Amino acid sequence: MLAFVTTTHAQATRHADAPPLLLGVAWYPEQWPEAQWDHDLTLMQAAHVHLVRIGEFAWSRMEPREGVYDFGWMDRAIAAAARHHIVVVLGTPTAAPPAWLTQKYPDTLRVSEDGVRDEHGNRQQFSFASTRYRRFAHDIAEQMAKRFGHNPDVVGWQLDNEYAADSFDPDAKAQFHAWLQHRYGGIDALNRRWATAYWSQTYDNFEQIPVRADHENPALLLDWKRFVTDTWRSYSINQIDAIHPHADPRQFITTNTMGWFDGFDAYTVHQVLDIAAWDDYVDAGEDYDWVDNAARHDLARGYKRRNFWVMETQPGSVNWHATNVTLRKGVVRDMAWQAVGHGADAVEYWQWRAAPNGQEEYHGTLLGADGTPVPVYREIQQVGADFAKAGAVLAGTTPHAEVAVINDFDGRWAINFQRHAANFDPVAELKAFYRPLRAQAQVVDVVSVHASLDGYKLVIAPALNVLTDAEAAQLKAYVEQGGHLVLGPRSGMKNADNGLQPQGQPGPLASVLGGRVAQFYALDKTVPVVGAAEQGSAKIWAEQLQVESPQTQVVLHYGKSNGWLDDQPAVLTRQLGKGSITYVGAWLDDGLLDRLTASWLQEADVHAPLPGAPQDVEVCVRGDARHQVVILINHAAAARRVSLPSTMWPVLAKGAASNEVSLEPNGVAVLDSREVAANR
Ligand code: GAL
Repeated sequence: MLAFVTTTHAQATRHADAPPLLLGVAWYPEQWPEAQWDHDLTLMQAAHVHLVRIGEFAWSRMEPREGVYDFGWMDRAIAAAARHHIVVVLGTPTAAPPAWLTQKYPDTLRVSEDGVRDEHGNRQQFSFASTRYRRFAHDIAEQMAKRFGHNPDVVGWQLDNEYAADSFDPDAKAQFHAWLQHRYGGIDALNRRWATAYWSQTYDNFEQIPVRADHENPALLLDWKRFVTDTWRSYSINQIDAIHPHADPRQFITTNTMGWFDGFDAYTVHQVLDIAAWDDYVDAGEDYDWVDNAARHDLARGYKRRNFWVMETQPGSVNWHATNVTLRKGVVRDMAWQAVGHGADAVEYWQWRAAPNGQEEYHGTLLGADGTPVPVYREIQQVGADFAKAGAVLAGTTPHAEVAVINDFDGRWAINFQRHAANFDPVAELKAFYRPLRAQAQVVDVVSVHASLDGYKLVIAPALNVLTDAEAAQLKAYVEQGGHLVLGPRSGMKNADNGLQPQGQPGPLASVLGGRVAQFYALDKTVPVVGAAEQGSAKIWAEQLQVESPQTQVVLHYGKSNGWLDDQPAVLTRQLGKGSITYVGAWLDDGLLDRLTASWLQEADVHAPLPGAPQDVEVCVRGDARHQVVILINHAAAARRVSLPSTMWPVLAKGAASNEVSLEPNGVAVLDSREVAANR
């Protein structure tokens, strides 16, 4: 088992009535006659729902006319929920401005990259940079905070909803120019760092600089993403500044993000938020890619490096795939437990009950239009019953990993601007490294390149394409202090301005590696990769490596392919004291990467908590200084048996302590290293 851990956690809810593990739903009381509320809340209570999120699209009900507020209905909705032991997260409604606002102030509407102004009727039609819109957003958030900032049943705030749409309106353009001026100081510095002699791009002043998100100088494209990031950050601050003075500090502030979405750098945006929360929707199908979803949970946990919330997830199906297949019976519960296993302290279903009309009539719900439970209600009720049993055991616990994967937005953006090999999707590449790590180490962190790496035995940076000197210095120090670092292909190719590192990859780490990339090749077929006792292949991307230090060893080399790659090094490694640096120059096949991962884990002395668990049983561990809680999720459609390294006590099931567990198809087991009182 893992050693004792003392990492922090986020028990975000501080409310006498709120259990530590929360089941919640998105509820839209504004869509229903008040006389029906109690009926709905009674059914929520019967499903062990203890949390609702309300308000995030209800601006026209909160402020029906400019400066005229109506919060009475919200007072009553919160009080009604409280009578059913349900606490509330309030959404600020800024993702859906009212029609009076956009009609009177059309300059608040967002403008697409090709210059078209949005109109009313959908949502997210505002400009995130509009000074006027921000004034309105500040005012509505402030009015809400004055009204609910001390409401004991309001546990937190969600700002807006799923930040996503950037805007190219005049405000945004002027702010981008000012942002560039601040970053570069003067136009000469920008010209030098962007290398604008290329294609006669040289600028005389900042106003000349185009505002584009595509087909532009790679430096401009990267800076636009950074500007968008800073703009969402200041968009958050605008509302946080409105809420804080009027709200109890116990009320957290968050926003709901979207998995791998790369519209902004989520690490920067989270700097100003109290907890991370994300919306967990999966690809269409009866099952889900649980390893991808595991990685997305780990990603969300990495934003604040503490427990997080699943602010939305699907009650079986959504309405926005081409064909909206419902998750097989049992998979909704399996997903809820996966979230908890990775550090979620709340799981909320979107949505409780379909609106009587509107764009999402077909979306999955817990109640039908007639107000009676639909079949998945029972499964979610089971989740609620589980949470009630396991909450006390899991309170204060968090996953603790010895290995980390680095997710870096600069690098992902830079590769996506210039893929060079169409299939080089940086997220798919990150997951290629994550999958075997997850299978073999079982508990994995996904963190920013700026995170402290202290305590990790192994760190893998799948495609750290943009590598600044400061970041390289941090990674070098990690290796020198005994850490094991693995860099994937395309790492260290670019500097902070998305320009080429003149010394070649891995740029400022080339001297540490004692080797570098001599040339890269986009592949349209596989290339053999061989080692002393190893055989496999590379796809999509292959780099011809070159050894530059006698201490650097070739781990694998290419077989016969395009002539250039024949017999050339594909993977290099160098020991530095107790640490090591390894450079993987190709997108390797899964089997080969699996075996290499095993060797890295062995070298770094990483041990899985449950070695030998079946591959389709997910092993999650949350712990604190007192105990470890193992969560096992059988993703297979057949039963599985799992041996435990020591005797553990079942939390969900009645039964004696044991060192073996049987799992039904899609079955879940929660096991405590301490004796569970209920089983005594
Ligand atoms: C989310 C959104 C919700 C709802 C849901 C449907 O992206 O935040 O408001 O639209 O999708 O799946």
